[in-house]
Amino acid sequence: MRIAISSLLLTSLILTFGSAQRTEAANVEQGRRLALLYCARCHAIDKVSPSPLRIAPPFRNLHERYPVETLEEALAEGLTTGHPSMPQFRFEPDQINDFIMFLKSLE
Ligand code: HEC
Repeated sequence: MRIAISSLLLTSLILTFGSAQRTEAANVEQGRRLALLYCARCHAIDKVSPSPLRIAPPFRNLHERYPVETLEEALAEGLTTGHPSMPQFRFEPDQINDFIMFLKSLE
């Protein structure tokens, strides 16, 4: 009996873990789409390419400047930088979560 219960526990643990991973992958993919749609015109959004607009930092390098979580607030309030060629963006909380997870996947 004890063995049956613990193997049941184990199975459900594995299932929970597996589905958490799947959601994470879905979030990363969603974030990647956002980046592709809104940012890829200027920023490199993969692990190797240079940015199409040379002065725009590749997204994979952002974490070298600050933890990417610090962008959460900026994305919610509308991202502004000193650079006039960068348009303003405002993301929804879900989108921000996806986007941050995508950025983390590049680190
Ligand atoms: C029209 C071109 C363009 C687009 C589109 C664009 N950016 Fe930028 N971005 C820039 C440029 C240029 C810089 C560098 C600004 C500077 O150094 O003053 C920059 C800088 C940044 C930085 C670094 C800011 C800092 O102070 O470290 C972040 C983060 C960023 N962009 C995020 C985004 C996100 C997220 C998107 C899409 C939602 C996006 N950008 C879309 C041109 C763009």
